[in-house]
Amino acid sequence: MTSANAGQFVDASRLIRLCDLEDLDEDEPSRAEVDGFAYAIFKVGDMVFVTADLCSHGPGLLSEGYVEDCQVECPFHQGKFDIRTGMPTEAPCEIPIKTWTPVLQDGGVYINPGEPNPN
Ligand code: FES
Repeated sequence: MTSANAGQFVDASRLIRLCDLEDLDEDEPSRAEVDGFAYAIFKVGDMVFVTADLCSHGPGLLSEGYVEDCQVECPFHQGKFDIRTGMPTEAPCEIPIKTWTPVLQDGGVYINPGEPNPN
């Protein structure tokens, strides 16, 4: 399995562990809460993606959404986001969600919470 950021510099001292790799299921999002912020973690093929769990449109949790073709459908109003970029792909979602590039090491999924990807 590879992370989405192969070759990218990462400050390892700021990484937080979200979950174990072995706990991720294909196309079944997982949820992790660290320091009061909730993340959704997605495994698609040999890639892992991390987004904010909370939908930018309302109270829907993307970790409870349906995943297809690297898009997650929010369970609340069925809006969609591209989990690779955080960009909305279907109404009523209009505001991008944050994404992080995961680091896969020691059997776990890590991110630097202070460095979300630009949308
Ligand atoms: S809360 Fe997610 S689409 Fe409305």
